[in-house]
Amino acid sequence: MMKRLFARKPLELLLEEMKGEHRLRRVLGPVHLTSLGVGAIIGAGIFVATGAAAHNIAGPALMLSYVVAGITCIFAALCYAEFASMVPVAGSAYTYAYATLGELFAWIIGWDLVLEYAVGSATVATGWSGYFQNVLSKLGYELPPTLRESPWRYDVASGGFVDTGSIVNLPAIIIVLVVTMILVKGIAESASFNAAMVMIKVAAVLFVIGVGVFFINTDNWVPFAPYGWTGISFFGNHVAGQTDAGGSPIGMLAGAAIIFFAYIGFDSVSTHTEEARNPQRDVPIGIVASLVICTVLYIAVVAVLTGMVRYNELDIAAPVSRAFQQKGIGWAEGLIAAAGVAGITSVLLVMMLSGPRVFLAMARDGLVPHDFFADVHPKFRTPWKSTILIGLFVMTLSGLLPIDALLHLTNIGTLLAFVIVCAAVLIMRKKYPDAERPFRCPWVPFVPIMGVLSCLLLMFSLPVENWWRLFAWLTLGFVIYFFYGRHHSVMAKHLEREIAAHGTGGAYMSKEQDEK
Ligand code: ALA
Repeated sequence: MMKRLFARKPLELLLEEMKGEHRLRRVLGPVHLTSLGVGAIIGAGIFVATGAAAHNIAGPALMLSYVVAGITCIFAALCYAEFASMVPVAGSAYTYAYATLGELFAWIIGWDLVLEYAVGSATVATGWSGYFQNVLSKLGYELPPTLRESPWRYDVASGGFVDTGSIVNLPAIIIVLVVTMILVKGIAESASFNAAMVMIKVAAVLFVIGVGVFFINTDNWVPFAPYGWTGISFFGNHVAGQTDAGGSPIGMLAGAAIIFFAYIGFDSVSTHTEEARNPQRDVPIGIVASLVICTVLYIAVVAVLTGMVRYNELDIAAPVSRAFQQKGIGWAEGLIAAAGVAGITSVLLVMMLSGPRVFLAMARDGLVPHDFFADVHPKFRTPWKSTILIGLFVMTLSGLLPIDALLHLTNIGTLLAFVIVCAAVLIMRKKYPDAERPFRCPWVPFVPIMGVLSCLLLMFSLPVENWWRLFAWLTLGFVIYFFYGRHHSVMAKHLEREIAAHGTGGAYMSKEQDEK
C-alpha cells in the first residue's frame, strides 16, 4: 500500500506517450511561448490589485513589494525551468512531480494547481469586470447596481465582509462564458488572439510609464512605508509588523504576498510543453524571459502610479486608468481602461487554458475519470469537457465572491506549488545527479532553498483564513485520491505487475522506496 503511494511514472514512458494518438498539436515556438507567458502574467495583478495593495497594505513601498515578489518568482522560475526541460510533456509541475517524487506528491501538486488556475481565473474575471465597467462609464453607461459586483466586499475599517447590495457580478460571468467558448474551439486560434492582446497590453503599460513619469510628484512617495516594512503572522499569531482592524498583517512584505498574484502565470508556460515545437530549449526560455520582462515593467508602473497619486487616494477597482483621470488626463483614462480590458482578457484565456490541461495529464494517469477529463474533441483537438466544467466553476466563483478573497486563495495555492517544485529540484539533484537536464537551474542549492524560504515567508504574510481554506481544499483532494485515484491509477497497476513478476518496482519506483 505504501509503495503504491510512491509509484513513479518512468521518464521513458512519458516520452513514449508523446508519440501516441490524440496528442495536442505542436505549434508553439519560443516567441509564442514568451508571449503566452507575458499574456498570462500581466493582468489583473498590476491593473487592479495594485490599487488596494498600495492603499491599504504597503503604501509607496509597494515598489519594493514588487521587487520581493519578483525575486521570489525568479527563484521559483529557475527551478520550474529545470523541471520543465527534464520532463518535456504536458501537465506542468504535476507531471514533473510524478516522474520524480511519486504519485502522492503528484496528486497534491496537480490538485493544488487546478485550484490555482480555477480560483485565479475567477480573480482575473472579477478584475476584468472592474475595468469593463470603467470603460462603460466613460461611454456613459452604468449597469444596474444589483449586477455590478459580488454580494460581499472586504471592509478595511471593520476587518470583515459587508453586504454590497449587489446580487451577482454579471460582467465577470459573461467574460468567463465567452473565454470558455473560445477555448473549446482550439489552441491555434487562442494563441494568435493572445498575441494581439499581449501587444495591446504591453503598449498600455509602456504608455502608463512613458506618460505618467511626467506627472510624478516625489512628495507622494513620503512617507514611503506608512504601514511598515514587514507584516508576518504565523497561523493567526502576529509575528512582525502591523495588522489591520481584522488582525491581518499589513506592511511592505504583506504587500508582496498580495501582489505576488501579478506574477502568477509564468508557470503556465510549462503546461504548454506538449504543444511546443522544441520544448527542451524553448520552455525554459519562455518562462524566464517572460518573468524578467514583467518584473521590470511592474516596478516602473508602481513607481509612476504612487508618484502620480497619493497612495491613499488610489482607486480600488481600476487604479491605473483612474490615476490618469485624477491628474486631469481623461482621454488617457479611457484608452488605458480599454487596453486593460484587452490585457486582462488575455490572462483569463491563458489561465483557463491551463487548468483543463493539468486535468488531462491526471486523467491519462487514471487519477481522475479518463472518459471525461481526457476526452480530446475529435475536431477541435481540445480537452473540451473539462474546459466546460472548469468554466462553470469559475463562473460561479467570479459571480459571487469578492476579489480579495479570491486573490488570497490563489496566492497561497500557487506558493505551495512553488515550495514543492523548489524542494523537488533539490531532491532530484541529490537522488539523480546524472539525469539529463537540458536546462540546469544555476547556484543549486542556493536558488531552490531561497525559493522555498521566500515562498513560505509570503505564505505567512497572507491573512490566516487562507491557510484553512487551503487545508480544506487539500483534504477534499485526499478524499478523492483515496476513494478514486488510488484505485484507478495506471502507474500503481504497472507497479504491482512489475513487483509480481520481478520482485522489485523497476522503473516505477525509486531505489530507496524499493529497498524499504
Ligand atoms: N498574473 C496574472 C494577473 O495579474 C494572474 O492577472
